[in-house]
Amino acid sequence: MIKKVTKLSDVPVEKLDKRQAAAELKELASLIAYHDQRYHLEDTPEITDAEYDALKRRNESIEARFPRLIRPDSPTRRVGAAPATGFKKVRHRIPMLSLNNAFTEEDVSGFLDSIRNFIKELQQDPDIPIEVVAEPKIDGLSCSLLYQKHELVQGATRGNGEEGEDITANVKTISEIPRALPEDAPDLIEIRGEVYMTDEDFLKLNQHQEKAGGKVFANPRNAAAGSLRQLDPSVTASRPLRFFGYAWGEVSEPFAETQWEARRQLAEWGFKTNEPSRLVGTLADMLDYYREMQEKRSRLGFSIDGVVYKLNRLDWQKRLGFISRAPRWALAHKFPPERGQTRLKAINIQVGRTGSLTPVAELEPINVGGVLISRATLHNQDEIERKDIRVGDTVIIQRAGDVIPQVVEVVFSERPKDSHAFVFPTHCPVCGSRAVREPDEAVTRCTGGLVCPAQAVERMIHFASRDAFDIEGMGQKNIETFYNEGLIQSPPDIFRLEEQDGKKRPALADREGWGEVSSRKLFDAIRRSRVLPLDRFIYALGIHQVGQATARLLARHYGTLVQWKKGMKAAQDRSSEAYQDLLSISGIGPSLAEDLLAFFAEKQNLEILEDLSTLLAVTDFEAPQTASPIAGKTVVFTGTLQSMARSEAKARAEALGAKVAASVSKKTDYVVAGPGGGSKLREAQELGVTILSEQEWLEMVGKAK
Ligand code: IVH
Repeated sequence: MIKKVTKLSDVPVEKLDKRQAAAELKELASLIAYHDQRYHLEDTPEITDAEYDALKRRNESIEARFPRLIRPDSPTRRVGAAPATGFKKVRHRIPMLSLNNAFTEEDVSGFLDSIRNFIKELQQDPDIPIEVVAEPKIDGLSCSLLYQKHELVQGATRGNGEEGEDITANVKTISEIPRALPEDAPDLIEIRGEVYMTDEDFLKLNQHQEKAGGKVFANPRNAAAGSLRQLDPSVTASRPLRFFGYAWGEVSEPFAETQWEARRQLAEWGFKTNEPSRLVGTLADMLDYYREMQEKRSRLGFSIDGVVYKLNRLDWQKRLGFISRAPRWALAHKFPPERGQTRLKAINIQVGRTGSLTPVAELEPINVGGVLISRATLHNQDEIERKDIRVGDTVIIQRAGDVIPQVVEVVFSERPKDSHAFVFPTHCPVCGSRAVREPDEAVTRCTGGLVCPAQAVERMIHFASRDAFDIEGMGQKNIETFYNEGLIQSPPDIFRLEEQDGKKRPALADREGWGEVSSRKLFDAIRRSRVLPLDRFIYALGIHQVGQATARLLARHYGTLVQWKKGMKAAQDRSSEAYQDLLSISGIGPSLAEDLLAFFAEKQNLEILEDLSTLLAVTDFEAPQTASPIAGKTVVFTGTLQSMARSEAKARAEALGAKVAASVSKKTDYVVAGPGGGSKLREAQELGVTILSEQEWLEMVGKAK
């Protein structure tokens, strides 16, 4: 949303309260976006650079004082801030095709043969050379630019070749793309080429992204793609994108007779062309070019993944035409997957969303296979030990396709004398909790699941999910938003949302996409979830290896939350009776026990448990009553129940030994239908399943008591 605001607040940043800061950051985000647009897209800035910088600085200093208020669409981290609508689609009048690939010299010689066999003159006279333009194959994104009456009127991605996305506003922010062509260009011409990022710009962008907490890209190609396909063109404008023109689609009149001449013409019209290119006439010349490019590749400054050969004569190109999705007159000669040698600067530990600690090699950046590599995975502790990888080592790395680069081996002859073996951390580098590794597992895991920021969002999604707290409306999207805004950091915060609503930040109901009804609904759902049986509570904690079945075993064994906590604390002593008691549970072995105990050994987890205890009513485990009329039956609830929440009704039914299913099938015994039963009710009728009213159900359950 672009909004024009004129005046900056003159309240000093130190004097702002949170509410004012939030309001101003919102204003600044749209104000800066507005001026970005004026500047980059429309070439008509309304304010001076100094005024613009002042806006940015004010935004930064407010963010520095209130880091929790940093908005997803903040000008300092404009990643993924795209509005919800997509791009318009554009149909290519001439399809954008791909190229056939060659990997061997035979493939290339076969290409020349097929041309000679196709063009009669060539077939009849083997002495006529086949002239070919050889040029680098750029590893970027292909893009089509339509010029009408010499003006750039449309930019499009390749898409599926037939239909791409309209990225006109975005391509207009790329300075290497001419906004207009000279008078001698055809009235209508569609220029095709590659949007890409140089290695140097890619590195700088990533450094900047890392500092600003934005998305870090795997390679220049991804960075270019991520930058071009932004719904907000001001983001594209802020990225260092470039363009090579190397082909064309629709043209109102011919403008060249050969590919070579056409390239020269594109350059004259102001396009950068992908150099070094060469006009060659024999197989040997083509292969020489290929080998030279392979050798030069890492010094070009941009990523290439091969070379492209294009038949020089355009009239012959036309005659040869296309077969399936690629021209007969062009060929991509790809480079083989490459290895590279570089220095390992450091080993960092990354904490995944599920708490696994993964060692990552930080490398002296090196171009491997056209991709600049500065990191490689080391998988786990064993891998480091097996290959004896040490910081300071020279290592061989390999990249195959789009997979994460790997460290193949150490060049031991280059090992510094003072190097020492890597010591795997015993604590999580993100939250400081203990990191443990099961004897039979390769992975080391952080035990601070509930407090660890690396895992927070994932944990809370699990916490609120259907089989856990079952909070409708607390799905991934809302949890991510609330987390990013600092409203919730760990599960207990969920239950404080309502009480805090409107205090730290604008009330939920006043936010975009929310209203009174939806916010009320969410708070109701949260409130309802506060009463839940012990087994669901245990499951919700997301302890490694503790799924629903294990949670039920534990709940059945310990009965109450208090007893369970007591048991876990006592079992920390592995010689205690409590530990034996834990292992006595059928279905719980030593490895699972270790995960449970590791969770309870972490002080921060205990604090969260205490906090939750005060916010919730965790009901004691009720042994399934086998004598109940619904024991072993499958029940489906539908419609709105009047006397209890769906979650409670479910818990009650389960406590009585029933299985609660989400959908009606032949196996369903009862459908309990409140008002608004809808399709499930109809299905039950069709299948002849017994339908109970809420009253009948309560009587049935009541009798069981
Ligand atoms: S010519 C009909 N020339 O490679 C042929 N393509 O694998 C049109 N590419 O989608 C393409 N560098 O994105 C051509 N010098 C080059 C290229 C090139 C990179 C890309 C292009 C195409 C893909 C096919």
